[in-house]
Amino acid sequence: MLVARLRYYNDKNIVPTGGDLDRVLRASSITEIDLMLRMGRLNRNVLEAIRDYAGEIRAIIKDHDAERTPYHPVMQVFETSLGKLYEGDCISLMREIESDTVDLVFADPPFNLNKLYPSKINDNLKTEHYINWCQEWLSECIRILKHGGSLFIWNLPKWNAALANFLEGRLNFLNWISVDIKYSLPIQGRLYPSHYSLLYYTKGERPRVFHPDRLPMQICPHCYGDLKDYGGYKDKMNPRGINLSDIWLDIPPVRHAKYKRRNGANELSLKLLDRIVELTTDEGDLVFDPFGGSGTTYMAAELKNRRWIGVEIGPTDDIVNRFDRIHQERGILNDYRESLNTLFTEDAHKKRVQVGLWTCESVRNKKKNGQASLFETEKR
Ligand SMILES: C[S@@+](CC[C@H](N)C(=O)[O-])C[C@H]1O[C@@H](n2cnc3c(N)ncnc32)[C@H](O)[C@@H]1O
Repeated sequence: MLVARLRYYNDKNIVPTGGDLDRVLRASSITEIDLMLRMGRLNRNVLEAIRDYAGEIRAIIKDHDAERTPYHPVMQVFETSLGKLYEGDCISLMREIESDTVDLVFADPPFNLNKLYPSKINDNLKTEHYINWCQEWLSECIRILKHGGSLFIWNLPKWNAALANFLEGRLNFLNWISVDIKYSLPIQGRLYPSHYSLLYYTKGERPRVFHPDRLPMQICPHCYGDLKDYGGYKDKMNPRGINLSDIWLDIPPVRHAKYKRRNGANELSLKLLDRIVELTTDEGDLVFDPFGGSGTTYMAAELKNRRWIGVEIGPTDDIVNRFDRIHQERGILNDYRESLNTLFTEDAHKKRVQVGLWTCESVRNKKKNGQASLFETEKR
């Protein structure tokens, strides 16, 4: 067997199959079940054995506390009338938060891509170590989440696939949202990575709050024409906009220096957090984000009159300074919100009328007047 393949199984903790499995078992004189157990990979047989011998297995499991990240003191560094910001480790902070108290958790952890963060955290962990760490902070997030509360995880599809596996049976899966943003150069032998994954879960059967914004119809920025063919359904379209789906095409990357609140990458758009806060919380609800970064979640919560708790392991000055410019952020947020919950923005509506394209009123009027061709303006 190629040494490279053995290394791959070992590094990624992948169970070999077929001929490779036979060779590994022969060379190490163990059975397949032995191998699965040693690798910590569960198949149906192993799971059944665990269920059948739960008592015996419990007795030999190591003390859970010994495996936990040690407690590091966290320090409050800033507060507003709605929120508190801490500097320190999110797991330590969460241990101090009461169970079932948070309405929304939004988490955008480091992606383990060997990036340099101002906090100098190790962003190049072994796969297993990274997943274990994610499971640890996720367990705390789940504990502090209220029944009916919502949890979102922003990550690369590769990591979110593994985290979804952990969340299965702990929270209720609602959506895998694909947010269309190109984030990497093409990689040989793979499709061009063009979306981030946003996992959306609730604690319990259904979310307590669910207010999806409706989006404006996508139109050509040059000729204002439809980008999609709505055929004979135009008169059925809701003047309040298009239903929010699980593919988000309108979230801008924060690349321009004018919008960046701290040096380096990783800052999310206020538009994304506005949408999530609006979707899942009411005014006065409590929002928590374990990975502060530049504080986008806290800013969205503050602007929308939600209470919030924030924490960042690295320097927090950029977050605090951001609150000095809250009026600018309010302007950006108001601009985003002006284009929501209507099929055409004011500007788009005006332009479409000018060039003779259909609008909700033109379609309905024509229908009311019983004209044979409903959409003759478009055929010009
Ligand atoms: C991807 S960034 C978050 C960016 C943020 N969503 C924004 O829009 O600005 C992840 C952040 O988590 C912080 N971090 C990493 N480990 C942490 C921990 N254990 N506790 C708290 N913060 C942590 C990093 O220093 C980094 O600033």
